[in-house]
Amino acid sequence: MSDLVKRYTSSVFFDKRLWKADITGSLAHADMLAAQGIINAADHASIKEGMAKITAEIESGDFEWKLDLEDVHLNIEARLTALMGDAGKRLHTGRSRNDQVTTDVRLWLRGEIDLIDDLLVALQTALVDVAEANVDVILPGFTHLQVAQPVSFGHHMLAYVEMFARDAARMAEVRKRVNFLPLGAAALAGTSYPLDRERVAKTLGMVDESGQPCVCQNSLDAVSDRDFAIEFTAAASIAMVHISRMSEELILWMSQNFGFIHIPDRFTTGSSIMPQKKNPDVPELARGKTGRVVGHLMGLITLMKGQPLAYNKDNQEDKEPLFDTVDTLKDTLRIFAEMVKGITVKPKAMEQAALCGYATATDLADYMVKKGLPFRDAHEAVAHAVKAAMSHNVDLSELPLEVLQGFNGKIEKDVYECLSLRGSLNARSTLGGTAPVQVRAQIARHRARLAQPV
Ligand code: ARG
Repeated sequence: MSDLVKRYTSSVFFDKRLWKADITGSLAHADMLAAQGIINAADHASIKEGMAKITAEIESGDFEWKLDLEDVHLNIEARLTALMGDAGKRLHTGRSRNDQVTTDVRLWLRGEIDLIDDLLVALQTALVDVAEANVDVILPGFTHLQVAQPVSFGHHMLAYVEMFARDAARMAEVRKRVNFLPLGAAALAGTSYPLDRERVAKTLGMVDESGQPCVCQNSLDAVSDRDFAIEFTAAASIAMVHISRMSEELILWMSQNFGFIHIPDRFTTGSSIMPQKKNPDVPELARGKTGRVVGHLMGLITLMKGQPLAYNKDNQEDKEPLFDTVDTLKDTLRIFAEMVKGITVKPKAMEQAALCGYATATDLADYMVKKGLPFRDAHEAVAHAVKAAMSHNVDLSELPLEVLQGFNGKIEKDVYECLSLRGSLNARSTLGGTAPVQVRAQIARHRARLAQPV
């Protein structure tokens, strides 16, 4: 093999991060080989001893990774043989790198999903805390980025909690399909040794809710498909898109034109030329990194599309996008959970903004409807009222009663209650609405849910 080809085909400098999963998988395989009488007890003991030494070497940084040995699997196996002789050479009985590599990736990814789940809980908890502290803070809710109706800032935060809760549920679903054992499929067709695949699955914790072993049931499929990685990256992409939407809002809110929030200095940067600047680099980068993760999804799904059964070397290309997706998502969730805790809310600016733009126009229409006017007629009457208020440069609540009565005779003094921001907020008390009483109920629901062990 030429040096160029060696470099081109080797994966050790990125797949070495699978080392722990590789050793865990090998130990489970060896344990089963011994139990089935395929290797003897002495060889089994040597394999365990050798793997313990290798673990120590890797952890201390003494392990010498060799490009010549192509990937993490061959590096570890060669070292085992160097340390333990023939026992090391017996480990690969009834196994191929094809079923080994996908077992390793699954084991590694399962652990990462569990860490991601913790981070999603931390982020949701931080958001619920901010929501609880700001149930009664009012900001303009937007549609088309035009002032629409007043909403509670707590309610706004809880919208993201819903999104991240679904992300966690998606990850839990993906985890179930990641947690299946390919080992025993060997190169592609199964093996002639009397392997006990279910035992290996149980050893590796690849079991369902009722403790039944989860074993890939078709050897060709087991070694070749990477749909579990694609599915994970899709779930990660959706989570990043949620982060990106939130980022966009944080960026808008902290701009001078909004001035709704303040983000602590440790999450912002200055400008090299404009001394007054404080830039929201963290949310901007998160928005940018969303493109990178979505790109990995495209990469992985395209990687799979032309492959005939069974294993093809193309699959080695699954690792870098998958690793980078995990790293990017974890870092982003971690930093957002911290940043969210540091948000300072500026209630005055938010309320001021909610007072511009006739955010309570719908409430006036609803008021007229309750007095017997059909909704469409009320809608039109309010349009005229808004026009009049605009021409005098005042809010609807600032129009005198006689003027309002000019648009609808049934209007009485109590109209001013529903034209206030707070009156408007309190009125929206349907399940899932923005009324503080609803928002508080949702906070209690989220708290109970987040306290449950996953
Ligand atoms: N490094 C390879 C991968 O990542 C391991 C499997 C190699 N199998 C083979 N038949 N060349 O997919």
